Amino acid sequence: MSKKILAIGGSAREDSISKKVLNAFKSHKGDDIEFIVADISRLPIFNQDLESPEPEYLIDWKEQINNADAILFITPEYNRSIPAALKNALDWASRPYGKNVWIGKPAAIAGYSPSLLGAFGAVQDLRKVAAFLGMSIMSQPEFYLAQAHTKFDENGNLIDSSTEEYIINFWKAFRIWIDKVK
Ligand code: FNR
Repeated sequence: MSKKILAIGGSAREDSISKKVLNAFKSHKGDDIEFIVADISRLPIFNQDLESPEPEYLIDWKEQINNADAILFITPEYNRSIPAALKNALDWASRPYGKNVWIGKPAAIAGYSPSLLGAFGAVQDLRKVAAFLGMSIMSQPEFYLAQAHTKFDENGNLIDSSTEEYIINFWKAFRIWIDKVK
């Protein structure tokens, strides 16, 4: 049966590596995968005064998560953790208390960085938050794309065959993981 994957990138900037990694994942998805890219950049900074009654943007955001069979996070690292925009999107959909929509979602995390560490710190922090929120996170294979800026051409196309293989294998495992969790 086909699966809807909600892909959440951690950076919204125009020329982001995030968009290139998202596109690389999209182009290697199976035919039975519907790949929806979330836009988390329009959510305001979380403020508990705004969570109830649920504003329209929160209803929309939660609906996107509810409609997804699984979540794929593509994250850079900001100061050894996840970007504030990503944490903000996670926090919003966990509220109001008792109405967290992340519970039970199969999820996978891919980190990337221009540095040699491949966003290791961000991926570990995201695992911790996602586990707390009740997501079932695929633990293997891990995905840390180091020196990520060197893996794409000037048009944003993936040009590195080992990264391509890495993504294909990651998808295979994630597809199995989704069926296992559901
Ligand atoms: C960074 N960057 C970064 N890189 C890293 O490997 N570890 C880190 O802790 C940080 N910290 C950090 C903080 C802030 C505020 C910024 C703006 C950047 C560099 C980061 O990996 C790089 O800018 C990526 O290109 C960001 O991803 P996008 O926007 O290209 O998708």
